[in-house]
Amino acid sequence: MRLRRLIESIAPKPRGASVEVWPWTVRAFHWALVLAVLVAGITGFLGGMTTLALHLIAGAAISALIVLRVAIGLFGRGYARFDSFPPSKQAALEHLDDIRFGRHERHLGHNPLGALMVYAMLAVLLAIVLTGTAALAGMFKQGPFRSFIGFDAGWLIYGLHQPLAWLLMIMVAAHLWGVWFEGKRGQENLVAAMIHGRKAAEPPAPPPPTRRAHPLLAAASGIGAVAVATLVVYRASTGPVAGLPPAKLDATYAEQCGACHTPYSPVLAPAAVWRQMMGDLRHHFGEDASLGDAKLHQRILDYLVANSAEHSDTLLAHRMMQRDPTDPMRITATRFWRFMHWGIPARVFASKQVGGRSNCSACHQDARSGRFLPENIHIPEQVE
Ligand code: HEC
Ligand code: HEC
Repeated sequence: MRLRRLIESIAPKPRGASVEVWPWTVRAFHWALVLAVLVAGITGFLGGMTTLALHLIAGAAISALIVLRVAIGLFGRGYARFDSFPPSKQAALEHLDDIRFGRHERHLGHNPLGALMVYAMLAVLLAIVLTGTAALAGMFKQGPFRSFIGFDAGWLIYGLHQPLAWLLMIMVAAHLWGVWFEGKRGQENLVAAMIHGRKAAEPPAPPPPTRRAHPLLAAASGIGAVAVATLVVYRASTGPVAGLPPAKLDATYAEQCGACHTPYSPVLAPAAVWRQMMGDLRHHFGEDASLGDAKLHQRILDYLVANSAEHSDTLLAHRMMQRDPTDPMRITATRFWRFMHWGIPARVFASKQVGGRSNCSACHQDARSGRFLPENIHIPEQVE
């Protein structure tokens, strides 16, 4: 009851007779979409790798909302239906003329320009979700496209993801301006109408299409499509996939090369670097790391070369091929490593809990698998 009163004070209903314009389905969709786009935008534009998980959840929510909106648009009622606001260049031009000559024809549902914007925003949102999913597959081998989008394609498509997001921001700004402008022109509180769903009955406006609504069909098709899509996405997101480093380190390797520091996944350097490093273990970063046994030495070298960066297709693998020529042996000297970690203060690395830049597994729980997935990053708390 309190909530209802609060809503009424924010969005007063029109005085006098009113008609329902936006059914609850459209209003719920609209505000859920606003929330999801806000979360996706903030985590995407301002967040780093550690907010990617939330970004993906927002993206999944947006995808589900698009599907539900299509079901409502096809089988819902009144002004929710797509056939109540068909995309029409002719109508949009006439509406522009109305504005130009100061005429005002009332539209209870979307006006012809608003309608075009709704379709355009849905299309751009869909493109953002698809390019993001493709990028995720190419760079991290995650998500439903992971078995058929390689790194190169994923990276290329990723180049579209952010420009599309900027385009959406511009469209949102235009949409907000349109709501303000049309509200002022028609002396109507359009934001309030999207909250309580009603507009004044007067002056009269063309009625919505009389085609019968099929609420059951809308619910069944919308929820069914989301459920099927979730299953397909789940199936496609699990199970084996090519282009990944070995999930588990070879036990002998982990024992021998993990004696002084965390055993590094072979994906962290190209074969040439492993060969060079193994060629002089006696002078290994100021330590003598020689293995003594020639057979053991050969076995570890073979293991590193067989699983080196060349053999994986992730973002990390591709970036680890690019070494700093003045310090080619170090993972932590690569441009990519420095770029990914520049924001972390030196005292965090120096802390007892972390124990140095090279101690990847202090912050990356999946360091041994060579995945380094953003969702597995946890800087130890209370670093001193
Ligand atoms: C005797 C101890 C010791 C052993 C055994 C050892 N290392 Fe190291 N390793 C070091 C030290 C010390 C460093 C430098 C760490 C630093 O400066 O933070 C290092 C650094 C590295 C680095 C660079 C890390 C960075 O900061 O980018 C790699 C890669 C590496 N070792 C691989 C190996 C491999 C492969 C083996 C097994 C053949 C191995 N290490 C065995 C002592 C050892
Ligand atoms: C102090 C903790 C810490 C240590 C130690 C550390 N990282 Fe990270 N790493 C992070 C954080 C935090 C990020 C995310 C930065 C951001 O949000 O942009 C990150 C990002 C990354 C990324 C890119 C994002 C991803 O998930 O693919 C890679 C790859 C990576 N680290 C590899 C390494 C490797 C290899 C080492 C060891 C040589 C290492 N890191 C050591 C904290 C650490």
